[in-house]
Amino acid sequence: MTAQTARKPFLYVVVCAAGIAAEVGELIAAAQERGWEVGVIATPVAMNGFFDTAAVEARTGRPIRSAWRTPGEPRPFPAPDAVVVAPATFNTVNKWAAGIADTLALGTLCEAAGLGVPIAVLPCVADALAAHPAYRAALERLGGMGVRFGEPYSGEPQPDDARPEFAWRRALDLLERG
Ligand SMILES: Cc1cc2nc3c(=O)[nH]c(=O)nc-3n(C[C@H](O)[C@H](O)[C@H](O)COP(=O)(O)O)c2cc1C
Repeated sequence: MTAQTARKPFLYVVVCAAGIAAEVGELIAAAQERGWEVGVIATPVAMNGFFDTAAVEARTGRPIRSAWRTPGEPRPFPAPDAVVVAPATFNTVNKWAAGIADTLALGTLCEAAGLGVPIAVLPCVADALAAHPAYRAALERLGGMGVRFGEPYSGEPQPDDARPEFAWRRALDLLERG
Protein backbone atom coordinates (compact mmCIF):
# COMPACT_ATOMS: atom_id res chain seq x y z
CA MET A 1 0.00 0.00 0.00
CA THR A 2 1.35 3.45 -0.84
CA ALA A 3 1.43 6.02 1.91
CA GLN A 4 -0.67 9.06 1.09
CA THR A 5 0.67 12.48 2.03
CA ALA A 6 -2.22 14.59 3.28
CA ARG A 7 -2.20 18.11 1.84
CA LYS A 8 -2.50 20.81 4.44
CA PRO A 9 -5.44 23.20 3.94
CA PHE A 10 -4.31 26.40 2.22
CA LEU A 11 -5.06 29.77 3.82
CA TYR A 12 -4.83 33.08 1.99
CA VAL A 13 -3.90 35.91 4.34
CA VAL A 14 -4.77 39.25 2.74
CA VAL A 15 -2.81 42.12 4.31
CA CYS A 16 -3.90 45.75 3.92
CA ALA A 17 -2.02 48.98 4.62
CA ALA A 18 -2.80 49.58 8.30
CA GLY A 19 -0.11 50.26 10.89
CA ILE A 20 -0.90 47.05 12.79
CA ALA A 21 0.17 45.02 9.72
CA ALA A 22 3.70 45.19 11.15
CA GLU A 23 2.61 42.37 13.50
CA VAL A 24 1.09 40.06 10.87
CA GLY A 25 3.80 37.45 11.56
CA GLU A 26 1.82 36.60 14.72
CA LEU A 27 -1.18 35.55 12.64
CA ILE A 28 0.90 33.54 10.20
CA ALA A 29 2.67 31.67 13.01
CA ALA A 30 -0.64 30.95 14.77
CA ALA A 31 -2.20 29.69 11.53
CA GLN A 32 0.75 27.42 10.84
CA GLU A 33 0.52 26.04 14.40
CA ARG A 34 -3.13 25.19 13.70
CA GLY A 35 -2.18 23.22 10.59
CA TRP A 36 -2.70 25.77 7.81
CA GLU A 37 -0.32 26.32 4.96
CA VAL A 38 -0.22 30.07 4.39
CA GLY A 39 0.14 32.27 1.31
CA VAL A 40 0.15 36.05 1.74
CA ILE A 41 -1.50 38.49 -0.67
CA ALA A 42 -0.83 42.13 0.17
CA THR A 43 -2.30 45.31 -1.24
CA PRO A 44 0.22 47.40 -3.20
CA VAL A 45 0.16 50.08 -0.47
CA ALA A 46 0.79 47.47 2.24
CA MET A 47 3.92 46.33 0.35
CA ASN A 48 5.30 49.84 0.78
CA GLY A 49 6.81 49.52 4.25
CA PHE A 50 3.83 48.38 6.35
CA PHE A 51 5.32 45.00 7.28
CA ASP A 52 8.53 43.02 7.00
CA THR A 53 8.02 41.32 3.63
CA ALA A 54 11.28 39.35 3.80
CA ALA A 55 10.37 37.91 7.21
CA VAL A 56 6.91 36.93 5.96
CA GLU A 57 8.32 35.24 2.86
CA ALA A 58 10.83 33.36 5.02
CA ARG A 59 8.05 32.24 7.36
CA THR A 60 5.62 31.11 4.66
CA GLY A 61 8.27 29.78 2.25
CA ARG A 62 6.47 31.52 -0.62
CA PRO A 63 6.71 34.91 -2.33
CA ILE A 64 4.11 37.46 -1.28
CA ARG A 65 1.64 38.12 -4.08
CA SER A 66 0.61 41.71 -4.74
CA ALA A 67 0.56 42.28 -8.50
CA TRP A 68 -1.47 40.42 -11.07
CA ARG A 69 0.39 37.60 -12.81
CA THR A 70 0.93 37.85 -16.56
CA PRO A 71 -1.43 35.68 -18.64
CA GLY A 72 1.30 33.08 -19.35
CA GLU A 73 2.33 32.66 -15.71
CA PRO A 74 0.94 29.75 -13.69
CA ARG A 75 -1.17 30.51 -10.62
CA PRO A 76 1.34 30.96 -7.79
CA PHE A 77 -0.88 29.62 -5.00
CA PRO A 78 -3.27 26.70 -4.87
CA ALA A 79 -6.96 27.57 -4.60
CA PRO A 80 -7.81 28.70 -1.05
CA ASP A 81 -9.53 26.55 1.53
CA ALA A 82 -10.16 29.72 3.55
CA VAL A 83 -9.33 33.42 3.46
CA VAL A 84 -8.41 35.85 6.24
CA VAL A 85 -8.22 39.61 5.72
CA ALA A 86 -6.13 41.09 8.52
CA PRO A 87 -5.72 43.89 9.01
CA ALA A 88 -8.60 45.05 6.82
CA THR A 89 -8.61 48.76 5.99
CA PHE A 90 -11.55 51.12 5.47
CA ASN A 91 -10.50 51.43 1.84
CA THR A 92 -10.34 47.71 1.07
CA VAL A 93 -13.57 46.86 2.90
CA ASN A 94 -15.48 49.54 0.99
CA LYS A 95 -14.02 48.62 -2.40
CA TRP A 96 -14.57 44.90 -1.83
CA ALA A 97 -18.23 45.45 -0.92
CA ALA A 98 -18.64 47.56 -4.06
CA GLY A 99 -17.21 44.77 -6.22
CA ILE A 100 -14.09 46.67 -7.24
CA ALA A 101 -11.25 44.36 -8.29
CA ASP A 102 -8.43 46.70 -9.28
CA THR A 103 -5.74 45.03 -7.16
CA LEU A 104 -4.90 41.36 -6.80
CA ALA A 105 -6.01 41.51 -3.16
CA LEU A 106 -9.42 42.92 -4.10
CA GLY A 107 -9.85 40.59 -7.05
CA THR A 108 -9.09 37.65 -4.78
CA LEU A 109 -11.59 38.85 -2.19
CA CYS A 110 -14.32 39.55 -4.73
CA GLU A 111 -13.96 35.98 -5.99
CA ALA A 112 -13.63 34.29 -2.61
CA ALA A 113 -17.26 34.44 -1.51
CA GLY A 114 -18.30 32.85 -4.79
CA LEU A 115 -15.90 29.97 -4.13
CA GLY A 116 -17.85 29.14 -1.00
CA VAL A 117 -14.81 29.10 1.30
CA PRO A 118 -14.94 30.65 4.79
CA ILE A 119 -13.73 34.25 4.97
CA ALA A 120 -12.77 36.01 8.21
CA VAL A 121 -12.02 39.72 8.47
CA LEU A 122 -10.31 41.70 11.23
CA PRO A 123 -10.90 45.37 10.46
CA CYS A 124 -8.53 48.03 11.75
CA VAL A 125 -10.47 51.23 11.18
CA ALA A 126 -10.49 54.43 13.23
CA ASP A 127 -13.83 55.26 14.86
CA ALA A 128 -14.18 58.47 12.84
CA LEU A 129 -13.87 56.52 9.58
CA ALA A 130 -16.07 53.69 10.81
CA ALA A 131 -18.88 56.23 11.26
CA HIS A 132 -19.03 56.80 7.49
CA PRO A 133 -22.29 55.42 6.09
CA ALA A 134 -20.49 53.73 3.20
CA TYR A 135 -18.47 51.66 5.68
CA ARG A 136 -21.53 50.62 7.66
CA ALA A 137 -23.26 49.61 4.42
CA ALA A 138 -20.17 47.67 3.32
CA LEU A 139 -20.09 45.66 6.56
CA GLU A 140 -23.75 44.85 6.15
CA ARG A 141 -23.34 43.81 2.53
CA LEU A 142 -20.32 41.61 3.18
CA GLY A 143 -21.97 40.13 6.28
CA GLY A 144 -24.94 39.24 4.09
CA MET A 145 -22.54 37.37 1.80
CA GLY A 146 -21.47 35.21 4.75
CA VAL A 147 -18.21 37.05 5.53
CA ARG A 148 -17.34 36.74 9.23
CA PHE A 149 -16.11 39.84 11.07
CA GLY A 150 -14.06 40.20 14.23
CA GLU A 151 -14.84 42.90 16.76
CA PRO A 152 -14.25 46.54 15.76
CA TYR A 153 -10.67 47.71 16.41
CA SER A 154 -9.71 51.35 16.00
CA GLY A 155 -6.00 51.03 16.77
CA GLU A 156 -6.18 54.24 18.74
CA PRO A 157 -3.66 54.33 21.61
CA GLN A 158 -4.87 53.76 25.16
CA PRO A 159 -4.25 56.31 27.97
CA ASP A 160 -0.82 54.71 28.63
CA ASP A 161 0.03 55.39 24.95
CA ALA A 162 0.21 51.67 24.15
CA ARG A 163 -1.74 50.33 21.20
CA PRO A 164 -4.42 47.87 22.33
CA GLU A 165 -3.76 44.25 21.42
CA PHE A 166 -5.02 43.14 18.01
CA ALA A 167 -6.86 39.81 18.24
CA TRP A 168 -5.01 38.01 15.43
CA ARG A 169 -6.09 34.54 16.57
CA ARG A 170 -9.74 35.59 16.47
CA ALA A 171 -9.56 35.34 12.67
CA LEU A 172 -8.67 31.65 12.92
CA ASP A 173 -11.41 31.05 15.49
CA LEU A 174 -13.93 32.63 13.10
CA LEU A 175 -12.83 30.29 10.30
CA GLU A 176 -13.12 27.24 12.50
CA ARG A 177 -16.66 28.15 13.54
CA GLY A 178 -17.91 25.86 10.77
C1 LIG B 1 1.10 54.80 8.91
C2 LIG B 1 -0.28 54.60 8.34
C3 LIG B 1 -1.17 53.83 9.05
C4 LIG B 1 -2.46 53.61 8.54
N1 LIG B 1 -3.33 52.87 9.28
C5 LIG B 1 -4.57 52.65 8.78
C6 LIG B 1 -5.50 51.89 9.52
O1 LIG B 1 -5.23 51.40 10.64
N2 LIG B 1 -6.72 51.64 8.97
C7 LIG B 1 -7.09 52.15 7.75
O2 LIG B 1 -8.21 51.88 7.30
N3 LIG B 1 -6.22 52.90 7.03
C8 LIG B 1 -4.99 53.16 7.51
N4 LIG B 1 -4.11 53.92 6.80
C9 LIG B 1 -4.55 54.48 5.48
C10 LIG B 1 -4.41 53.42 4.38
O3 LIG B 1 -3.06 53.02 4.25
C11 LIG B 1 -4.91 53.99 3.04
O4 LIG B 1 -6.30 54.23 3.11
C12 LIG B 1 -4.62 53.07 1.91
O5 LIG B 1 -5.15 53.62 0.71
C13 LIG B 1 -5.20 51.68 2.11
O6 LIG B 1 -4.88 50.88 1.01
P1 LIG B 1 -5.30 49.36 0.95
O7 LIG B 1 -6.70 49.24 1.46
O8 LIG B 1 -5.21 49.05 -0.54
O9 LIG B 1 -4.32 48.57 1.74
C14 LIG B 1 -2.83 54.17 7.29
C15 LIG B 1 -1.90 54.93 6.58
C16 LIG B 1 -0.65 55.16 7.11
C17 LIG B 1 0.32 55.99 6.31
